[in-house]
Amino acid sequence: MTHAAIVGWGKCLPPSILTNQDLATFLPTDDEWITTRTGMKERRISHVRGIELAIVAAERAIACAGMRGEDIDLVIYGSCSNDEMVPNSASGVQQRIGALRAAAFDVNTACTSFMYGLSIGTSMIKSGIVRNALVIGVELISQYMDWTNRNVAVLFGDGAAAVVLTESAREAGVICEKLQCYADSRQILRVRGMGTMYANLGVDYGLTRWDFDGQEIFRKAVHGMSEASLDVMRRAGVGIDEVALVVPHQANLRIIDAVAKRAGATPEKVFLTVQKYGNMSAATAPVALVEAVETGRVKPGDLVLMPAFGGGLTVSSHLIRWGDRVTPLGGTDVDLPPSDRTALELVNAIRAQKSTGETQAARFDTLKFAEGKPSGDGASSAPP
Ligand SMILES: CC(C)(COP(=O)(O)OP(=O)(O)OC[C@H]1O[C@@H](n2cnc3c(N)ncnc32)[C@H](O)[C@@H]1OP(=O)(O)O)[C@@H](O)C(=O)NCCC(=O)NCCS
Repeated sequence: MTHAAIVGWGKCLPPSILTNQDLATFLPTDDEWITTRTGMKERRISHVRGIELAIVAAERAIACAGMRGEDIDLVIYGSCSNDEMVPNSASGVQQRIGALRAAAFDVNTACTSFMYGLSIGTSMIKSGIVRNALVIGVELISQYMDWTNRNVAVLFGDGAAAVVLTESAREAGVICEKLQCYADSRQILRVRGMGTMYANLGVDYGLTRWDFDGQEIFRKAVHGMSEASLDVMRRAGVGIDEVALVVPHQANLRIIDAVAKRAGATPEKVFLTVQKYGNMSAATAPVALVEAVETGRVKPGDLVLMPAFGGGLTVSSHLIRWGDRVTPLGGTDVDLPPSDRTALELVNAIRAQKSTGETQAARFDTLKFAEGKPSGDGASSAPP
């Protein structure tokens, strides 16, 4: 049986750090509230486009695998904040890394996009369609964040990470996974303003309003991530004692703690980045995985459990058998250009740009959603 081993890994975090104190300069919030409710202290704000973060992470993962761009025959770009919709973003990465004969497509399941991409890449290797796949999780959330909304603005940051998968005769890579979507909860996590139906409202693309039911998301996330993890361990015949490390999606420290408890994992077994990077949506889980390997928390042959959730409301859990190598085969000089602005300066520039569209924001209120109706696709089809 063919497996899809993870043989390369790389991450790219933009250098500018936005602290809780920075957020308190323009939002009614404070370090104490953010820390106690979320576990977050800092997050990164990018000075470059999302695809640039993805390319640096990809180049690092490919070098780590001891490969060249031309060895890659599949590029999967997991994101919900693409720089543009057509052409797809994966083809932009493909071009820059020189994987010119590869297939390339984007995946959007919000925060679980990398995890869904990992399943797709693994399946395409196992079925013999491709040999080497590059799977990316990347997000440039700062550009479409509603910086007037303290309920969500404190939770997110920018970043990217990538892995290279290759066919393997030995058991390695994803050995069991659960993918699910609680579609009847799709309305509890919505970003208005991103999509063609908003053009009917005369809202400029990029102007957003985040509709999050934080407490309901919290409940669904804990339930979904822990149920998916228990299901995966049961089907794989593995107990939590055999799992060396849990590397979860990091939306909130309290969600992670509750999932770990239900899955029977001790706190020492859970790898955390939430305090440093916040929630980077699709980039969160792969950045945490890469950092776990880089800091020696993953040993050869380890079993790693990766529960995640995202808009949709998608949930997933992956059980991964790490291969026999935890050190890179090579490195690269490819890096981001230096940033000459602080994170707060970058955010203030975005806020200034968005404030010109504030009158348009009232138009969001005219849009009625029709969740739950059998034929409904999320919104009334008629222009207002
Ligand atoms: C958002 C979240 C941190 C809020 O924590 P919580 O303990 O549920 O807090 P509550 O929603 O009960 O809010 C408590 C109060 O804090 C206020 N509050 C919200 N954000 C705040 C902030 N950044 N600073 C200060 N106060 C804030 C609320 O307005 C509320 O005030 P009120 O009681 O006067 O109305 C938590 O629900 C969560 O993490 N949910 C999931 C987040 C999510 O969806 N992430 C993305 C998934 S991909």
